Order: sequence, then C-alpha cells, then structure tokens
Amino acid sequence: MTPSDVKATLSFSDGSPSIDLPLYKGSIGPDVIDIRKLYGQTGKFTYDPGFLSTASCQSTITYIDGDKGELLYRGYPIEQLATQCDFLDTCYLLLYGELPNEQKQKDFHKLVSEHTMVHEQMQFFLRGFRRDAHPMAVLTGLVGALSAFYHDSTDITNPTHRDIAAIRLIAKMPTLVAMAYKYGEGQPYVYPRNKLSYAGNFMRMMFATPCEDYEPNEVLVRAMDRIFILHADHEQNASTSTVRLCGSSGTNPFAAIAAGVACLWGPAHGGANEAALNMLEDIQRNGGVEKVGEFIKQVKDKNSSVKLMGFGHRVYKNYDPRAKLMRETCHEVLGALGLENDPLFKLAMSLEKIALEDEYFVARKLYPNVDFYSGIVQRAIGIPVSLFTAIFALARTVGWIAQLNEMIGDPEYKIGRPRQLFVGSERRDVPPLAQR
Ligand code: SDX
Repeated sequence: MTPSDVKATLSFSDGSPSIDLPLYKGSIGPDVIDIRKLYGQTGKFTYDPGFLSTASCQSTITYIDGDKGELLYRGYPIEQLATQCDFLDTCYLLLYGELPNEQKQKDFHKLVSEHTMVHEQMQFFLRGFRRDAHPMAVLTGLVGALSAFYHDSTDITNPTHRDIAAIRLIAKMPTLVAMAYKYGEGQPYVYPRNKLSYAGNFMRMMFATPCEDYEPNEVLVRAMDRIFILHADHEQNASTSTVRLCGSSGTNPFAAIAAGVACLWGPAHGGANEAALNMLEDIQRNGGVEKVGEFIKQVKDKNSSVKLMGFGHRVYKNYDPRAKLMRETCHEVLGALGLENDPLFKLAMSLEKIALEDEYFVARKLYPNVDFYSGIVQRAIGIPVSLFTAIFALARTVGWIAQLNEMIGDPEYKIGRPRQLFVGSERRDVPPLAQR
C-alpha cells in the first residue's frame, strides 16, 4: 500500500487535542485511514459492527467494484475466467498470483489429482452422523477431522506445510462432499478417478454407483466447473474473514477452513442458495408466477421478516456479475437437458424482473446475487438442495486458503482481537444468596 500525501485530521468538539491519521492508497478502490494508533493517541476506539466501513487487511487476491458490478481475481475479470479458464487454472491463479502456462497447468492438475483420496479412517467419522444429517454439519466435522490426519502439514508458519495443506484441501473437498452426499443416500462411497477432470471427478463420485458407472455429460461438467469458478473467492466476506481470524491464532489450516465452512452455512451467506431454491419452490407450490406479486408484498412488509433470498449484497449495489454468468449457465444447462421451460427458471426470471422494477428494491439497490440462479443450475444437474452450500464450500476452499496464506505470509500480521463499546453493568459486588 502507498502512503497518500493527504492526512485525515480528527478533531473533537470538546477541545480534546486533534490528531492526524495517515491515509494509504491501494492500486484500485477506496483509500484507507490508518487508525492503528488511534487508541494509543486518543484512548478511543472506532465503532463499526458488521465492518461496513472497515478494511481488515490489505490483499492482492480479489477486488470487487460494487457500484460497477465488477469482480476481479488477481486482476482478471470473472467473465473472462469463467469462459476462458477452468477451475484448477483459477485455483492456481488465486494461490500463486498468475495463470499457469501449459506446463505449469499440467503439473498443477497432476499434483491436485494425486491428493484426491482421503485416509480410509475418514469414513468412520460419517457413521457417527444420522443419515439425514445436513451435509454442512457433516462437512464441518470432516474438514476439521483432516487436521487429525495430516500432522506433516499443520504448521501454518511453514511455507511448505501451507502449500501442501492448500493442495490437500482443494483436492479432497470434492471427495468429502461426495462422501457426505453418498452417506445421506445410503449408497457406498465412490473413489476418485484421477484421469477425469476436477469437476468430472466430483460428479462421478456423486452419481456413479457400483452397479452403474457415470458418464459425465460435458455440458453439465462444464457448468459444474463454472459454478466452482464463480464461487472461488470474494474479498473479505464473512466466511473468509472467519478463516483469517481463526488462522490468526496460528491454528492449523484444516481447523481454520472448518471454521469457514461453519460460517458459510448461514442463510445470510452461503446458505442463501439453498434458501433461494426453497423460496422458489414454495412460491411455485402456492401458485407460481401469479403469486409473485403477493410474495413481493410480503418481502416489503417489515413485519414479515420475509426476504427475497438470493437478492441483495453488502458490496454489490449493482448486478452481481456472477448472477449474470449463472443465469447464462441456466440457459445452457436447461437447454442441453431439454428443460428450457423449467417452471422454476421462468419463475426466477419473472421474480427478478418484477423486483428490479419495484421501487423498494431499486431504492435499496437490491439485485440478484450469486445465489439467486445457482440453485436452479445445480438442481438441473441433479444436485440435491441440501448439498448446494456444501458445493459452495468446496469451491470457496481455494479462496479461503489463498487468503489465509496471504495473511500468514505477511510479516506484519497479528492475532485478530477486536475491542468493544461496553454498555453493561459497572463494577458491583456479589450479594449473598438470601439477598438476590
Ligand atoms: C453471499 O459478502 C460476500 O461477498 C458474500 C458472497 C460471497 O461470495 O462470499 O457474495 C456470498 O453471501 C451472497 C449473499 C447471499 N445472501 C442472501 O441472498 C440473503 C438475502 N440477502 C440479505 O440477507 C442481505 O442482502 C445481505 C445479508 C446479503 C446483505 O445485507 P446488508 O448489507 O447488511 O444489508 P441490509 O440487511 O442492511 O439491507 C439494506 C436494506 C434493508 O432494508 P431497510 O432496513 O433499509 O429498510 O435492504 C433490505 C434490508 O431489509 N434487504 C432486503 C434484502 N436484502 C436487504 N430486503 C428484502 N430481501 C432481501 N434479500
């Protein structure tokens, strides 16, 4: 970051001494005011629950321009990556900062393919769950459990450990997600087949059975790979910030990623794709497109607590570029499957049209986000709704790991420890029981 020649002067109306705070410029995006010395110089904290105006770190990985609806991974627009690269190229880019040339692409794909199996003991963790356990509960447990198997790559301060842990997590997440799915289905696990592509391998582990192999449909495999690319990273979102904060204590990368999986599960975050599809199915069940107006009325009624899931975003105040690409993928997949008239897709598009013309949404700059269409694509591919967020976690693992490694690789990083504005009881003495 570059020091700006502009200073921020903070003055107080009670005559307390004012202070000058340095400003720093990034390569693109808003400047930052460096408040690291604020408490030391003023005895005051800043206050920003939800971090609406707070930069928690400096990063070179992903940049979002919320007003333009632009998303860049290491400077490359998501539209170009999603159409000209595959997910493993994107992983390489997020981890190492550049797109691989042909040789590096081959080496990286081979390296990842050599780590797709999990230790045979891992399957015994699943047996402890009920068969109807939510896949995100299972995945949170399985990812954390990895730290019990890979003691040779848990020292986060060792760059070699960091690299191998990154490859292991990227390679094993599809295997773990497919195991969680098979366990719920009561079907045997399917081992990875390394000659297949990353997305093809995942879909075979999901849908093959001992009785029938699974011939991946290239359109569906491409769609799955694009879903992975679109979900790979997204600046300091809630789950990435969770991974950074968790990792800042020096815990092992598997534990930190497990914390990210747990955070992503929430319906305000990665759980929104499951919630969005359930929302569309509810509307469809209760009358479909004719009922959209009534549903939108509920959403606008503050007392209803009903939200249009898959809409709105903390950063995007324009169309989420990932939603546009996801909608295109919907067209491709539904077309390839002869489902062009899929009622849910039609319902989603009419819901989007009505919302984008409604003053409530326009005034609040609420647009479709990545979760609005992703469920329709996944459902068409045959992924059960309960697995949508687990697939989001599978894709986001590379972003979490890249961000974690960027933090740990920064000599200036410290353990994250926010302060608070205390509004509770002042000091008081414990009264005897009889007087309570
Ligand atoms: C992801 O951060 C990331 O980058 C996340 C993510 C990633 O890749 O990591 O992009 C993935 O999590 C996408 C978001 C998925 N979540 C949803 O689709 C759930 C529905 N969306 C909302 O819960 C909400 O929009 C958030 C949580 C996404 C953003 O919330 P903010 O930024 O805290 O905004 P807000 O809740 O303060 O909303 C501002 C106004 C409020 O109305 P007023 O109080 O001003 O009258 O907009 C309203 C909100 O009530 N609003 C919505 C709405 N989202 C916001 N009203 C109806 N439906 C919605 N979806």
